[in-house]
Amino acid sequence: MKKIMIDNAAALGGSITVAEVNSLRDAAVKASQVLEDGTGAGNDFLGWLHLPGAVSESELASLESTAARLREDCEYVIAIGIGGSYLGAKAVIDALSDTFAAYKSNGGTKVLFAGNNIGEDYTAELADLVKGHRFGIIVISKSGTTTEPAIAFRLFKNMLEQQEGKDFASKHIVAITDAKRGALRSLATQEGYDTYVIPDNVGGRFSVLTPVGLLPIAVAGFNIRELVAGAVDIEQGDNELMYTYAQTRNALYSAGKKIEILVNFCPKLHNLAEWWKQLYGESEGKDSKGIFPASVDFTTDLHSMGQWIQDGERTIFETVLSVGEPAATVVIPHDEADLDGLNYIAGKRVDQVNKMAELGTRLAHVDGGVPNMVITIPALTERYIGQLLYFFEKACGISGYMLGVNPFNQPGVEAYKKNMFALLGKPGYEEATRAINERLS
Ligand code: PA5
Repeated sequence: MKKIMIDNAAALGGSITVAEVNSLRDAAVKASQVLEDGTGAGNDFLGWLHLPGAVSESELASLESTAARLREDCEYVIAIGIGGSYLGAKAVIDALSDTFAAYKSNGGTKVLFAGNNIGEDYTAELADLVKGHRFGIIVISKSGTTTEPAIAFRLFKNMLEQQEGKDFASKHIVAITDAKRGALRSLATQEGYDTYVIPDNVGGRFSVLTPVGLLPIAVAGFNIRELVAGAVDIEQGDNELMYTYAQTRNALYSAGKKIEILVNFCPKLHNLAEWWKQLYGESEGKDSKGIFPASVDFTTDLHSMGQWIQDGERTIFETVLSVGEPAATVVIPHDEADLDGLNYIAGKRVDQVNKMAELGTRLAHVDGGVPNMVITIPALTERYIGQLLYFFEKACGISGYMLGVNPFNQPGVEAYKKNMFALLGKPGYEEATRAINERLS
C-alpha cells in the first residue's frame, strides 16, 4: 500500500541545520512514548491515539446503514456542529467531492452545514434552500450545550417538524453527543432520535474518525472503511513521518519561524487546512507559546499573499500539501493563432503546469528565506486522506509535548463565551453582565 510521504530537505540549510533537526529526535521519541504511556498532560484525552484500529465492524455497519437511510429519504442532510464537531467532516467531504456537485443534479444527497457560525443571512438562505425539500439533520455537539449549533438545531428542527411532521423528523434527526451528559443527550432521549456517542476521551479536534466525522462523510457517499483503513496504515506503521514533521517544525519555531503556512495547490484541500488550523491552533497555542497556523490556496493566493510570503517579515515557514495524481485529465489545446502565447505549453496537462508552479514557488520561497516541507498525497482518495488525518493528529500530540504544552485542552476558547453570555443576559451570568455593562458605559 502506498503512503503519504514527507520531505523536509527544503527546510534545511537556511534557518536550521540537519544537525539541529536531528538533535530533536530524542525529544520526539520521548514525546511519542509519553503519548503511548499516557503519562503526559491531558492524558484523559488520548482516546484518539489507537482509535482507528479499534473502530469496529458493527460501528461501521451501523453508520453505513444510517447513512443509507438518510440518503434514501433525504435530498439534503444538514450537519449541525462547530469546531471539532464540523471541520473534519467538511474537510474530508470537500477533499473528495466534485467541486461543482452542488450545481449538478445527479450528485445524490447533499450534505450542508449549519451551526458553524451565527450568520443570520447564512441561516435564512439555508432554510430557503431546503424549504419544500425532504431533509434530515445530523446534530453534533460533544458538550451538547454549544450556542451556535444549539441555535441552528432549534431552528432547523422546528422547520423539519412543521414541514414533514414530527414522526418524519424524529426518524431523520440523528444526534451525536456525549454518552450521558448535556442538553442534546436529554433532548435526543426525549424525542427518540437515533444517537451515536463521542467518546469521553476524544476531544473535538481529534474526533474526525468517530461518528462525528464518519456519519456525515458516509452520507455524502464516501467510503468510511477506506478512510479508517488509511488512518490504520499510519497508526500501525512507524513514527518516522510524525517525527520528521514534529522535529522540523519545532526546530524552525526555535529559530524564529513563528508562523506555519499550510499550502495547497489543489482547491479541494482548502478545508483540510481549516481542520488542520483548529488541530494545531487549539493544541499548541497556549501558555504564551505556539506556532501560528495559517493557510493559503495556491496558485490563487500567489496573486494576493504571494508578495508577503516572498518578501515580508521572515517569521514564516511553509508545509506544502502536494497531490501526486489528479483524478481527471485536461490537456491544454494547440491554437493556430496563438494570440495568448500559450502554444509553448500546448499538449501538456493542466496538472503539469500546476506542478511547475508548485516547484517554482517552493524554490522562490526558499530563496526568499521561507523554508518549506512537502507532504505528498499520492491521490485524493479516502485511503490517503485517512492517512493524512491520522498523521497530523499524532504529529500534533508529539509536537505539542515537545513544545511543553498540554496539547489536549483549550482553556482559551471560554473567554469570548463568558462575555457573550454576559452581554446576552444569560441566567447565572448576572455579575458578569453588570461588570461588562459598566466596562462598556
Ligand atoms: O476542539 C474543541 O473542543 C472545540 O473546538 C469544540 O469542538 C467546539 O467548541 C464544539 O464543541 P461541542 O462539540 O461540545 O459543541
